[in-house]
Amino acid sequence: MEVVIRQDRRDAERYTAHFMAAFVRSHPGCVLGLATGGTPEAVYAELVRLYRKGEVDFGAVTTFNLDEYVGLPPEHEQSYRHYMAARLFNAVNIPEERTHFPDGTAQDIAAACRAYEEAIRQAGGIDLQLLGIGRDGHIGFNEPGSSLASRTRIKTLTAATIRDNARYFGSEDAVPRHVVTMGIGTICEARRIIMLATGANKAEAIAAMVEGPVTAMVPASALQMHPDVVVVVDEEAGSKLRLADYYRWVFEHKPDWQRVVR
Ligand code: PGA
Repeated sequence: MEVVIRQDRRDAERYTAHFMAAFVRSHPGCVLGLATGGTPEAVYAELVRLYRKGEVDFGAVTTFNLDEYVGLPPEHEQSYRHYMAARLFNAVNIPEERTHFPDGTAQDIAAACRAYEEAIRQAGGIDLQLLGIGRDGHIGFNEPGSSLASRTRIKTLTAATIRDNARYFGSEDAVPRHVVTMGIGTICEARRIIMLATGANKAEAIAAMVEGPVTAMVPASALQMHPDVVVVVDEEAGSKLRLADYYRWVFEHKPDWQRVVR
C-alpha cells in the first residue's frame, strides 16, 4: 500500500479529488467505483469544480456505487442514488444510464446482486475504486466478520454503524437495518483503489488496516493483498500509524515519473 499523509482534511480531500481527475483524464472511458458517506463529500465538490473549469470530462465514464440501503427508493433523500445525484451526477456530464447502484428495492435481492456483479463484468470491471473506511474497519458495508471473498449481497448493519449513520436519518430507529453491498472480493477486483480517511475517529481503523494482520475482523485489511492501493489520510487519521515517518519519507522521495497518475 502507498500511504499518503496530508497535513489536514482539506488537503487530503483535494489530493484524492485530483488523483481521480487525473485518472479520468488519462482513462476517459474508465469505470469508476464510487463511495458515499461524509468523507467523500468534499471530493465530489472538488470534482464538480474541476469539471466546471473544463479540467475533467465525465462524458465517457461509467460508475458503480459500492452499496445501497434496502427498502429506500431512489428518490428517498437518504438513498445513495439521491446522495450521488445531489453531490456529483446532477452537476457533471455522466450519462445517467451509465451510473449503477445495487438495487435495494428488488423483490429478489439475491438475483439483483448477481445482476450487479454481472453488470460490473460486462462493463469490463472497475478501473478505479474510491473507498472510505468505517470506524470498525468496514469497506462498503462489509462489517467485521464478512468473508474476505464475499460478493455483492445483503448485509445486516452493526449497531455501531447504525449509530454512526443516525445523524443522517434523525434517529437510530429510522436507519434501515439492511443494505446491499459489493463484497470484499468484488472490491478487491478493482484494478486500482484509492481510500480516503480523515479525522481522529478513523485513526485506529487505519492503523489496523495498514499495519495489522489481514483478518475478517478488520474487513479493510484485505486491501493488503491488493497490488495497487493508495491510502490518503490527514495527520489525525494517520496518527496511529507506526511507520508514519517512513510513509512520509517514501512520499518525499518519490521519483517525478511516479507522481503522474497513469
Ligand atoms: P463516513 O463513512 O465517510 O461517513 O465516515 C465511511 C464508511 O462508512 O465507509
